[in-house]
Amino acid sequence: MSIERVFVAGAGLMGHGIAQVHAAVGKEVTVYEPDLARAEAGIARIAGNLERAVAKGKLSAEERESILARLTGTADLGQAAEADLVVEAVFEDVDVKTRLWAALDGIAPTGAIFASNTSSIAIDRLAASVSEARQGRFVGMHFFSPVPVMPLIELIRGATTTDDTEAAIRGLATELGKQVIVSADRPGFIVNRILMPFLAEAMRAYEEGLGTAEDIDTGAKVGLNHPMGPLELADFIGLDVCLGIMRVLEEGFGQPQFAPPAVLVDLVEAGHLGQKTGKGFHTYPR
Ligand code: CAA
Repeated sequence: MSIERVFVAGAGLMGHGIAQVHAAVGKEVTVYEPDLARAEAGIARIAGNLERAVAKGKLSAEERESILARLTGTADLGQAAEADLVVEAVFEDVDVKTRLWAALDGIAPTGAIFASNTSSIAIDRLAASVSEARQGRFVGMHFFSPVPVMPLIELIRGATTTDDTEAAIRGLATELGKQVIVSADRPGFIVNRILMPFLAEAMRAYEEGLGTAEDIDTGAKVGLNHPMGPLELADFIGLDVCLGIMRVLEEGFGQPQFAPPAVLVDLVEAGHLGQKTGKGFHTYPR
């Protein structure tokens, strides 16, 4: 099936990036937030990204304008009535997501694909919130931050996801210039299953005074050729997000490598969530 109209629920770190990459390849994109000002703030963030690309000579001013013209902010879920694809990138909370999907199920066309950008919640659990007739078109479509830069989509097939749905998402990923990996529907999927124990171990090393945050990060950057060190990356992802994913992994597997380190719990409880609050393992701007 051809996907031309995309409804993106959530205009935060992931949602705005997801909206941007779809508009950039010619899709008509509606960006939804329950509060219109937040949807518009997401579009303003996209405008800022595009402006930087224009300044670097990577995008023309005309292309920027046509991408922006394909983006509409809304606080009305009813706008999903025309969508070929709904991508959900809202707060990582089962109740928030299932309520939203149940509402969208009553609005979107029966043929529309429902894709969740969840980083850890089971796709089967989310798919259960929509009608049986829709469940074959429910899929996980996990993007990586910053979405315009990271060329991976993790496709998660639930028990009911059909081959046609997988094929449609694969076709879309090709249009977006992104590579697909397919993960079974298990806690953390593929990437966070690998990433979170790595981040947690770096946090435990920091906690026990093995080295400074700077040196731990430099170890991974210079010694392993990673673009960011693990503590910097955790700050970038959001410490609350990392904590949430580690808890899902710990609950799902019960193995010690997934247990959230005390320093992470303490930082989150103190409201230090990383880059977005100006403080985490490092202080921002750096
Ligand atoms: N939005 C859009 N574009 C961005 C961006 C952003 N937030 N940040 C950087 N970019 C672009 C820049 O414009 C630049 O583009 P050009 O090459 O076209 O000029 C390019 O990215 C490189 O940027 P910089 O030169 O400024 O900086 P850098 O070389 O240090 O790269 C980075 C920045 C791409 C973020 C790099 O540090 C990196 O790859 N970090 C690791 C990111 C990562 O691992 N992400 C996955 C996190 S896990 C996740 O998202 C999933 C989950 O469930 C937790």
